[in-house]
Amino acid sequence: MRYSAPKYTYDVLPAPPSGATQARPWIEDSSRWHWLEGIFRELCALYSYEEIRTPVFEATDLFHRAVGESTDIVSKETYDFTTRGGDDLTLRPEGTAGALRAYVQHRLHIERPVTKLYYIGPNFRYERGQAGRYRQHYQAGIEALGAGGPDIDAEVIAIAMAFYTRLGITRLTLKLNSLGTAESRARYVEALRAYAEPLLPEMSEDNRRRYQTNALRMLDTKHPRDLELLADAPALTDYLDPESRAHLDTLQHYLSGLGIAYEMDPRLVRGFDYYTRTTFEIQSPDVGAQSALGGGGRYDGLVEQLGGPPTPGIGFGLGIERALIALETAGVPVPEPPGIVAFLCPLGDAARAACVNLLSHLRSANLAADMDYTGRKMKAMLEQADKLRARYALIVGDSEIERGVVQARDMRTTQQTEIPVAHIAESLRGLGGLSEAGR
Ligand code: HAM
Repeated sequence: MRYSAPKYTYDVLPAPPSGATQARPWIEDSSRWHWLEGIFRELCALYSYEEIRTPVFEATDLFHRAVGESTDIVSKETYDFTTRGGDDLTLRPEGTAGALRAYVQHRLHIERPVTKLYYIGPNFRYERGQAGRYRQHYQAGIEALGAGGPDIDAEVIAIAMAFYTRLGITRLTLKLNSLGTAESRARYVEALRAYAEPLLPEMSEDNRRRYQTNALRMLDTKHPRDLELLADAPALTDYLDPESRAHLDTLQHYLSGLGIAYEMDPRLVRGFDYYTRTTFEIQSPDVGAQSALGGGGRYDGLVEQLGGPPTPGIGFGLGIERALIALETAGVPVPEPPGIVAFLCPLGDAARAACVNLLSHLRSANLAADMDYTGRKMKAMLEQADKLRARYALIVGDSEIERGVVQARDMRTTQQTEIPVAHIAESLRGLGGLSEAGR
């Protein structure tokens, strides 16, 4: 019996060995993930966001309430299950609901009036797989709770843009919209329904249903005909209440001041019922058909809806797979995996015994090292050293043991230097050229 990863999932594997002829998609290369996640964590520290980790499953009801019953995510895409104990749970389809559940449960607002959280983790949506769309995907996300002004909106958008800039993704479009308040949105939905009513016979079944249950969701449609019919629909931004209008104007002013280019998109409603006011999405042609790299928005009523005190909030989720796809498509250079400092090549049993100790010594001195465990010939051991991106191969034979030395072969220049075992760590550092793995 042979098994494969479930449909529309993928495995993340060690980086291909140095010199491998077969390329590995970047989303399957764990060294790319480390590099990308490192950049995200660094940025979060810089902007003063702290990590939160919540379970990958939560009460089913949490997502129904937070994301919305009539959204595509809740009505078609969640992985729901009943436990042996009879609890109804759902694999999280997104990160906001769980983060806010924890915020309310642990009363984080008492510790921090403005709570700034970040997370990196998997989400599960039962979707039709295609390039850039998976049934398990990772998001790097943040949630900023307790501040309601456009200044923090600008900060949240700036982090997302800085992330892509640091990664080296340059072909980006930031789309911006405002959904106003619940009241102004209700006025808009009335206008949208009036506009859509005569067009319903031509619309998709999905949109006819949405018209009845939650008309704003008609704008989530992916049917080309629906999109054509909705092209002249009223614009949300024409229905904003004065405070939401002022909020949006100030945010636009801040973004311009920060040198962040954006395009207004009055149809950007973003598939979740929790959004109020600001919504945004970052798109890139380098992710193919699934052009959204990431998106987010403000959700001022959500904490209260989940049983907490009235608390404004805003956040985003950035798809990690899609960022890796965009980097790969655009051919952006990323650092090579660091490799190890030394690969030990024992020639004979006595040398093997010496290498076991030497290896331990090198690691204690914080030098990344490995050794041959298979008793291969010299040539094969050197090939292995190359594959592991070792800076030096340390060759140990009987004569070296007798004299208390090893031959350090520089894997780049092939030059060999004899160094004393007693000072091996210092000597290797002295030879220089050590990568991150051995500083
Ligand atoms: P979202 O737009 O549904 O927002 O997801 C954020 C990003 O996750 C997308 O732009 C996309 O890059 C990636 N993504 C979503 N679904 C998939 C999938 N099936 N396969 C691959 N990548 C995917 C949210 O989830 C909100 N919770 C964001 C947010 C946080 N809003 C406020 N705070």
